[in-house]
Amino acid sequence: KLLFLCYFRKVNKDNPIGIFDSGIGGLTVAKAIRSLMPHESLLYFGDTKHLPYGEKSAQSIQEFSKNISLFLKEKQCKMIVIACNTASSVAYDIVKKECPAIEIINVIDPVVNRITTSKNNSTIGIIGTKGTINSNVYPQKIKSANNNIKVKSLATPLLAAMIEEGFFNDKISQAIVHNYLKDPALADIKQLILACTHYPLIQGLIGDFYTQELDIIDSASQVALHIKEVLKKKNLLSQKSPKQRFFVSDYTLSFEKSAKLFFGEDIHLEEIKTIH
Ligand code: DGL
Repeated sequence: KLLFLCYFRKVNKDNPIGIFDSGIGGLTVAKAIRSLMPHESLLYFGDTKHLPYGEKSAQSIQEFSKNISLFLKEKQCKMIVIACNTASSVAYDIVKKECPAIEIINVIDPVVNRITTSKNNSTIGIIGTKGTINSNVYPQKIKSANNNIKVKSLATPLLAAMIEEGFFNDKISQAIVHNYLKDPALADIKQLILACTHYPLIQGLIGDFYTQELDIIDSASQVALHIKEVLKKKNLLSQKSPKQRFFVSDYTLSFEKSAKLFFGEDIHLEEIKTIH
């Protein structure tokens, strides 16, 4: 009976939204959530020890994601946001299974939903890590909602590392970005999905490459809109003064400095070593 009660314990609307990523890229999603819902408390976890996820096997990413979700569940998060496309591609079902009583949000479905319900949806390009692109999850989800949409995708593995190293507004990053975008694999696209939570930082560089009109879709703002809808529907929107905590599995000063670029303000990262 006690187990039953624990399972269906009423969720407190002032509990934090748990957010996780392979590192600090998911702070772009945290930032979008905060600017849309300033009263929400946030608990962020960046798995900097296992970064980058884009190069890891699905099995490893599932294991990391499971452990992080259990940590966020223990911290009483009212919702868990998988703020990483790579983990959303391969670990969404596992996280849902581990935390059945918590609302789990991935960063893929809100974007797929926007694309497949919009009129301007002829040919879509997708860029992301090897893990995300090789999983084929985006094309599968898009095609199953609307089979008339053409999907073209390209793995762009240098981009997340480049941004994390602070190259995102200079000649080097411009050359790398342009080199990827001129790949024939992305020819004639009308919209481009930035399927990596690091990429909002190079949205300007990407936009500069195209001379024709192109709709660039960044998942952070789509996901924030979706989260607000879900919380509202479940009567879980908080009205309290928010608290924010940011954990990483491996602390370096350089992560703390870069965190500011992703979140938009100075934040303090706390190291937590107990999650493997
Ligand atoms: N931020 C991760 C994503 O959205 C990519 C970074 C990584 O490879 O860990 O997929």
